[in-house]
Amino acid sequence: MSGRIRLVVQLLVLCFLSTLNPTLNAQEKSLAATPPMGWNSWNHFAEKINARTIRMQADAMVSSGLKDAGYVYINIDDTWEGKRDDKGFIHPNEKFPDMKALADYVHSKGLKLGIYSSPGPKTCAGYEGSLGHEEQDAQTYADWGIDYLKYDWCQSTGTAEQMKAAYTKMRNALKNTGRPTVFSLCQYGWANVWEWGAEVGGNLWRTTGDIEDNYDSMSRIGFSQSGHEKYAAPGHWNDPDMLEVGNGGMNEDEYRTHMSLWCVLAAPLIAGNDLTKMTPYTQEILTNREVLAVNQDPLGKQGYPVVQEGPFEVWMKPMQDGSIVAGLFNRSKEQDRMTVQFSHIGLSAKAAVRDLWLHKAVGEYDDSFSAYVPAHGVVLVRLKAVAR
Ligand code: GLA
Repeated sequence: MSGRIRLVVQLLVLCFLSTLNPTLNAQEKSLAATPPMGWNSWNHFAEKINARTIRMQADAMVSSGLKDAGYVYINIDDTWEGKRDDKGFIHPNEKFPDMKALADYVHSKGLKLGIYSSPGPKTCAGYEGSLGHEEQDAQTYADWGIDYLKYDWCQSTGTAEQMKAAYTKMRNALKNTGRPTVFSLCQYGWANVWEWGAEVGGNLWRTTGDIEDNYDSMSRIGFSQSGHEKYAAPGHWNDPDMLEVGNGGMNEDEYRTHMSLWCVLAAPLIAGNDLTKMTPYTQEILTNREVLAVNQDPLGKQGYPVVQEGPFEVWMKPMQDGSIVAGLFNRSKEQDRMTVQFSHIGLSAKAAVRDLWLHKAVGEYDDSFSAYVPAHGVVLVRLKAVAR
């Protein structure tokens, strides 16, 4: 090849690569541009999960209105894994006879399918992990049509460097398949994962141990998220674990607190209840459009506390349109009157206040807004400055 022709060929290759890269980058960025919304099998079904139940949850996500409200991922958690064949490829166990057919079914509903594995030799429930088979597993998931991977550490120890290496390895394997896949890191917040989760390709990373369906567990996790807010942004989110709304261990006020707090935190909203059996209030809590809009706000700011006085906490979340969402949380066992001072949430003017659970404009206020807040409950308001 003459020098001139070689130069032209090199230039053409460069042009091609430069068109390819921005496309890939744009695609990566648009994954989880707002906190992922979906459903996961673990909190309600644990190991009692199979393909038939997954199909029923997908059907219910559509018929209950969750899909229209923005929920899209149907995620299979642990215990789907079977054995590897003699070439090392993983196969599902008898509970999931045909993973590709299941993915096709979920996709036919306009939804996406998620799966679960571990970077270790075994998953937390003792099933086959991905160690030493990362590329093969990523390719298998892509061939099935998987859109989301929760990758759960499940080992008793590990240094930050070991964790980073393991997550990077799977991130690269997923990337090499060319299939956009949401990458969910699960290692319970060890080694300050929020500081490096984005760098190893995480779209979300668990910040805590497992949530349980009771007020103590939920509130301990939810109210301890302060300080992580600077690590959340479009494309990558702090994950204080999946929702328990509708599982029966909390009352309506407590579940409203759970949902409000997760929305203010810009946390992934992965429902964990049986979608085929929802009471009207569970459905209303999961699909309240004005509350979900707080979570899905495109600015992607994670909220934080501005007042923490004993059991009374006021949290704020800045919204893209310049309004401020304030959550008045009463962690005590008695109803109480709570106040948000506008100076605490960066508002100096008069503000129009809208109650997001009641779908009601409650009026214009100067300097502060007060409301009665039920025990373990919340009043969630959106405030917009108006000229005095
Ligand atoms: C860990 C995770 C849970 C769930 C189980 C499955 O405990 O934190 O969310 O995935 O493993 O075994």
